[in-house]
Amino acid sequence: MRKENQSKMTLSQEDFSLVQDMLSQRVGISLAAGKEYLVVNRLSPLVDTFQFDSLHGLIHSLQIGSNSNLWDEVVDVLAVHETFFFRDQAPFQQLEKDVLPAICKEAERTGRKITIWSAGCSTGQEAYSIAMLLAEIAPQLSKRVQIIGSDVSSKVLQSASEGVYRKFEVSRGLSSSRLNRFFEPVESGWQVKKNLRSMMEWKKFSLAGTWPSLPQFDLVLLRNVMVYFQPAVREQLIKRITPLLRPNGRFVVGSAESLMAYEHTLQTVSSMNATHYVVPQT
Ligand SMILES: C[S@@+](CC[C@H](N)C(=O)[O-])C[C@H]1O[C@@H](n2cnc3c(N)ncnc32)[C@H](O)[C@@H]1O
Repeated sequence: MRKENQSKMTLSQEDFSLVQDMLSQRVGISLAAGKEYLVVNRLSPLVDTFQFDSLHGLIHSLQIGSNSNLWDEVVDVLAVHETFFFRDQAPFQQLEKDVLPAICKEAERTGRKITIWSAGCSTGQEAYSIAMLLAEIAPQLSKRVQIIGSDVSSKVLQSASEGVYRKFEVSRGLSSSRLNRFFEPVESGWQVKKNLRSMMEWKKFSLAGTWPSLPQFDLVLLRNVMVYFQPAVREQLIKRITPLLRPNGRFVVGSAESLMAYEHTLQTVSSMNATHYVVPQT
């Protein structure tokens, strides 16, 4: 029985290469050689859920592209969704003390909306962290804030839109005063209060595919996402995001990421041990 199960879940090198190609071509994610164990571990439960005879059968079905629900599940289990509130202190210090106050001031002066995009938002902690800062810095502007959170995975976006976090999740990066001010207890944990949830719009699309219509942004966060992409996809992404930034619009990448290796027209701003990029004033 065990042996039968083993062969059912065996991954040939050819099938692994197919998974690598599909992930890379359809969502830009680069799956390194040596990650065969990850494919076996993460896809095996789906073999039974979707009633395939074997891992090979599942991968073949992905290849002929007949089941979009299956593809969604596969991307969901193979993508890395790690995130937490106020992830990495330095960039959030810079956002709190420099970037967001400047954006709020400009919005007050012009009377227009504040638009922010958390690209690859996972379960929403990054987008809600920004919403909390804006509510602290300029509560009078809250009704004029639009934060778009986007991801390729429907599952994480569902969690993000509910805004319910378990005890373990609110213990990562969130102070008790922010927890008490911006969340309310619910049966399964803590839910972000409605005033913050109403700033949010969640959108499902692949950063490596066709994008829906998006507004001009004051701030785009693309943090801990590019690291999973091939260099060509990263370069393309930077080229597509830049024109979506307003004059003086800011672009923030992950602490371990940089635009240094890529051609771009943005100006680098470093302060408080963090770096972001800004559309230069003309
Ligand atoms: C590691 S999380 C980063 C979450 C958050 N930005 C942070 O820094 O904490 C990366 C997210 O990017 C998403 N992602 C990966 N490839 C994507 C793609 N092609 N299009 C959109 N989202 C993608 C994943 O589903 C995952 O939720």
